[in-house]
Amino acid sequence: TTKIIMDTDPGIDDAAAITMAINDPKLDLKLITTVAGNVTVDKTTKNALKLVRFFNSDIPVAAGAKQPLIKPFEDAARIHGESGMPGYVFPEDLPTPLEKNAVEALRDEIMASDEKITLIPTGSYTNIALLFAQYPEVKDHIERIVAMGGTLGKGNMTSAAEFNVFTDPHAAKMMYHSGVPIVMVGLDITMKALLTHDSIETLPTLNETGKMLHDIIINDGDNSDKGIAMHDVNTIFYLLHPEAITTEKMWVDVQTEGPAMGETVGDIRGAYHNGKTNTAVCVDIDADAFNKWFIEEVKAIQN
Ligand code: BDR
Ligand code: CA
Repeated sequence: TTKIIMDTDPGIDDAAAITMAINDPKLDLKLITTVAGNVTVDKTTKNALKLVRFFNSDIPVAAGAKQPLIKPFEDAARIHGESGMPGYVFPEDLPTPLEKNAVEALRDEIMASDEKITLIPTGSYTNIALLFAQYPEVKDHIERIVAMGGTLGKGNMTSAAEFNVFTDPHAAKMMYHSGVPIVMVGLDITMKALLTHDSIETLPTLNETGKMLHDIIINDGDNSDKGIAMHDVNTIFYLLHPEAITTEKMWVDVQTEGPAMGETVGDIRGAYHNGKTNTAVCVDIDADAFNKWFIEEVKAIQN
């Protein structure tokens, strides 16, 4: 099994990613930390707790940053609804989050682990930037960061920027400069591997988890004829099925100012950094394999 920690802002597609991470036997999810992003951190924390409760799991949840490092906070409630996870009625008796905050919880869990941890951020990278600034010793105990966010092509917030990076570009820059190996799971593949309407309609026929995901996913404000992007789920798919995704190693940096603020700039020519790379960028994906896996994964859940 791979030991993982998710840093997340549920969020419709985050909810699906957390579902897979809690339930897949090949993954050992040690901790969920939350960040402001799709909605406020109070709401993303509550949503993470709802999922933990739904699966009767005892995975700890720690609340993190209320706002980006420097930039004012702007949510994405227009896509993810006011609650961030609309459409399904969860039990009311939720577990409580840890008393310590996300940065402390991340530090403690990473340092206590006998194996290196794979960190999976599916929101903005504020908690991770704070963690590396306060406790740089954790870096040696992280296997790699498999991060949803960024794009080599067109953005989804501005023409240059993807939402997670745009939300906190300064944190993203710190993460890309941290020296920890990064896999960039960006729009280049997540907009290709749409969950088709056929797949979505299959979900409620599988089990209660499928119904829960279906009822949430159909509220996604970013819905096209071809399907709905499950951005964050691509991180989990990459971990389990790297053979279905093509990556290219390159140097990635982040714009923190001006009209391209939040842009992830990949050195696609490989020339300027003399072949030095900090990131494996996901550039292609087998969308059919993603859809099949998504259904199989939900089907295997005993809930
Ligand atoms: C990212 O932005 C969020 O709205 C999604 O949850 C995903 O993490 C996609 O750009
Ligand atoms: Ca997210």
